Amino acid sequence: MSDDSLPAPPPVRAAAVIPAAGRGVRLGPGAPKALRTLGGTPMLIHAVRALAASRAVSLVVVVAPPDGAAEVKSLLDAHALPDRTDFVVVPGGETRQESVKLGLDALPPGHDIVLVHDAARPLVPVDTVDAVIEAVREGAPAVVPALPLADTVKEVEPAAVPGGPEPVVATPERARLRAVQTPQGFDRATLVRAHETVTDEVTDDAGMVERLGLTVVVVPGHEEAFKVTRPLDLVLAEAVLARRRLNDGF
Ligand code: CTP
Ligand code: MG
Repeated sequence: MSDDSLPAPPPVRAAAVIPAAGRGVRLGPGAPKALRTLGGTPMLIHAVRALAASRAVSLVVVVAPPDGAAEVKSLLDAHALPDRTDFVVVPGGETRQESVKLGLDALPPGHDIVLVHDAARPLVPVDTVDAVIEAVREGAPAVVPALPLADTVKEVEPAAVPGGPEPVVATPERARLRAVQTPQGFDRATLVRAHETVTDEVTDDAGMVERLGLTVVVVPGHEEAFKVTRPLDLVLAEAVLARRRLNDGF
């Protein structure tokens, strides 16, 4: 039997969970971070569009600020989004980890690949999203996009007195370090198990899968997938958007 006669593989059905429930304390006073605008459009809408731009993503679950689910629903209704994608909004929790868990709890059956993507990374290119999905499809239980570091990193001990100098205890070899971004991609059952069993505080979802003893793999990240964290990041995000508009008239 030739390959031509084999049935086509089933289409990939990935779901994206977008935690957007944080306040954005480091960005300074104002609306919750995900609702602040970039180029006139809420950061969350940019992030939702970036994930829905992947043809493999057929569902997006937005985890809204605990008291902001209705506002997020109306924002999604008010902005043009692809018809082939379904959207669900759930209220979030106290920590990012809790918010992601609440998003996972809202996933209907039928999606074997789950991406978790920070609303605070509104400008991730679709090629990065697709590369993560592809690596999960090829069999990795967990995939993270990441970049080499520009700065040397030091491990320090807490200062003897608050605000005092911090003693350096180690300098990891920079070439072996990676700065990890989102979307992180997972085999759904693995991510659900990680969130049900790992109780340590972690700063990313792949960290929970590592705690299960499973291998997490890295694919190339993208500099435009940076996280909007501090005020200067807003300046950079606006500049990236302006450059895109110039380049493709979009
Ligand atoms: N997040 C969330 N629920 C929380 C805390 C964070 O859904 N309780 C989300 C944020 O909305 C963001 C992502 O997790 O999209 C990454 O978190 P971070 O960049 O730290 O955002 P904030 O927690 O909002 O910012 P800050 O830590 O400065 O308050
Ligand atoms: Mg935070």
